[in-house]
Formats: sequence, structure tokens, C-alpha cells
Amino acid sequence: MNAPDLTVVLPTFNERDNIAILVERLSTALAGIAWEAIFVDDDSPDGTAGVVRALARRDTRVRCLQRVGRRGLSSACIEGILASSAPYVAVMDADLQHDEGLLPRMFATLRDEPYDLVVGSRYIAGGGVGEWDVGRQRASAAATWLSRLITKTEIADPMSGFFMLRREVFEDSLPQLSAQGFKILLDILASAKTPPRMKELPYEFRLRQYGESKLDALVVWEFAMLLADKLIGHIVPVRFALFAFIGGFGVFIHMAVLWIGLKSVALSFTTSQTIATIAAMTANFFLNNFFTYADKRLKGWRALRGLVSFYVICSLGAVANIGIASYLFQEQERWWIAGIAGIIVGSVWNYAVSSVFTWKGR
Ligand code: GDD
Ligand code: MN
Repeated sequence: MNAPDLTVVLPTFNERDNIAILVERLSTALAGIAWEAIFVDDDSPDGTAGVVRALARRDTRVRCLQRVGRRGLSSACIEGILASSAPYVAVMDADLQHDEGLLPRMFATLRDEPYDLVVGSRYIAGGGVGEWDVGRQRASAAATWLSRLITKTEIADPMSGFFMLRREVFEDSLPQLSAQGFKILLDILASAKTPPRMKELPYEFRLRQYGESKLDALVVWEFAMLLADKLIGHIVPVRFALFAFIGGFGVFIHMAVLWIGLKSVALSFTTSQTIATIAAMTANFFLNNFFTYADKRLKGWRALRGLVSFYVICSLGAVANIGIASYLFQEQERWWIAGIAGIIVGSVWNYAVSSVFTWKGR
């Protein structure tokens, strides 16, 4: 059998009922092209991976890459592309919303014309989003506008999840990819060292028939994180910036609780300070769990265990903070240098250690 010229990477999460129809349609659309399909499944509870493997036993063009304990559309696409050796790679949703009929034209464009990347576009003449409600249309328009801040290329539909590229284009952007969230094309465009020669082809975004969309508040938040990473990520990691910002907010909580304890409840200083410290650590844990680690959010008893580990880590961080600060204060009398150095050492410790122990994923 010939090695494939084209790999279609298909991220899946709970798409069981769409797999067989999709492979059937690919088979028809791609007749005459040596292709393969790589499904990248994040251990879907509905058993999508098993359905793909059953199909793969009968059809060698189909493969399954199953990831356990992880989620993420972008990272799934990246790993799917990395698992392929074909010179041309397409990324496409596995829920039948993208028009597979466009694939042969995308392929011919890359093979015969001087382009590196072909994007299936909803926002040029001939394309469309079908029956989206006004809310989703507006949100998509706003996100498209924001995306232009970070791409070097003029593109009508930077949020498209449907595109085909030369493998070299992907490799060019690979070292810089954020790999976070939902927007893999945007990530590739923003990470490319040399702007790819790009062409958009129109298609009509179809309605979903089986299963449901995974686009939710988390996806919106991850989009914001991707933008921030591309804008400031080269200076400071976005996660650390958020962690530090929340840490600063924790200082306010601490002072407020301390003040209440001392002035309105009339507790002793030590008691008030202890309560304030616990309150600040608790608030910081939940804020970080919600925002900084939205993608690894701990729930139920895991959250409780995370909270306890966070207390322990922050206590050690405080010891390091005070130790370093006191040492520096002895060495040179400037109190603010000592204070800031202590804070930096303490927060870097808290961040680094909690990222490994508290929000380690599975
Ligand atoms: N492996 C994996 N892991 N796959 C995922 C995950 C995940 O965490 N989340 C979603 N998917 C898969 C879905 O199973 C589907 O095949 C595809 O990614 C798209 O997910 P949907 O939830 O159907 O997204 P959508 O239809 O709202 O939006 C899609 O189309 C837009 C227009 O092209 C996405 O591709 C958007 O990024 C895109 O803007
Ligand atoms: Mn979809």
C-alpha cells in the first residue's frame, strides 16, 4: 500500500455516532487521493475510541490516537499532526459540521498552486454559518476581530477549525505553539516564523446532528488565554502572571480580614493574623482553581485535597519568603529590596510547586 499523501486529523470527544458516517464520506470525497484519517480521542466516556478502533481493524486508512487524562482540542490536533508523516495534513471536526467536499480542492490548491495553507472559511463570499443564533454570531465576530491582534496574516476566518497545510508550515510554528484551548489555526498563524502563503475557500458550516458542541465558557476563557499568551507570553508566562495577580489580590483579602478581626471582633493580633492568612490562602486557591487552572479545575474531594496541599505549599513559601527577606535585610539595610525579594521567592515557589502538586492533572 502507498504511504498516504494526505492525513486528515480528526479530534473527537463524544462523537461515537458520527465516526462511521464521516469515514464513509471521506472515502467518497477523497477517491483518487492516498489518504489516512487519524482520530485523536480524549478518552471519550461514550466509547468513541472503541468505535474508531473497530473501524480501523477493517480499514487500514483509519487510525486511533487515544489520550488518557487529558483534554484539549488544540493539543489533540497537534499530536495528531505529529503522528502523521504525510506531506499534507488537514484538520477537521469529526462532527460532520465541516464540509468534507472541500478537501479535494484544498489538496489540489496546495499541490498545484503556490500556497502553504488553505483555510475553510465561513466568512467569505459563498461561505456561511447556517442557522446560528445572533448571540453566537456576535461572539464569533468579536473573537475574529480580536484574533487580528495576534496574526500576521490577513484572514477572514482565523477561528476556523477546518484547514489543510504543508507539513513544513506546521513544523515552522511548532516550537512557538501555545497548544492551549480550541483555536489551533489561530495558534499556528500567530506562531509562524514566516507568514504562510494562505488561501481561503468558502464553505457552509453545517448543523450538528449527533452529539453536542463542547464550546462553553471554558473555551471562551481559553481563547482569552491564547491571546494573552501571544501578546505577553514572551515576557512572562500567562499562568504565572495570573497567579501573581491573584496573589496580589490575596494581600487585600488578608488585610481586610485582619482589620475586621482586630477592629470589629476585637480578637488578638495573632488570632486575627492567623485567620487572615487562612482566608487569603483559601481565596487564592479557589480563584486560581477557577481562572489560572480553568483547564485543570479540581472538583469535589479533589478540590479539598488540592486545598490542603495548597495550604502546605504556601506555608513553606511563607517560610522561604521570610527567610530570604530577613537574610537580605541583614546584609543590606534597604527594607523594600528585602521585602520584594522575599515576595518574589515566595510566589515563584508557590507557583512552581502548586503547578506540580496541586494542579498536576491526572
Ligand atoms: N480530542 C478532543 N479533545 N477533541 C475535542 C475536544 C477535546 O477536548 N473538544 C472538542 N473536540 C472535538 C469535537 O468532538 C469535534 O469533533 C471538534 O473537536 C469540534 O468541537 P465542537 O464542540 O463541535 O466545536 P464547535 O462546532 O462549537 O466549533 C468548531 O468549529 C468552529 C468553526 O470551524 C471548532 O472547530 C471551532 O474551533 C471552530 O471555530
Ligand atoms: Mn461542532
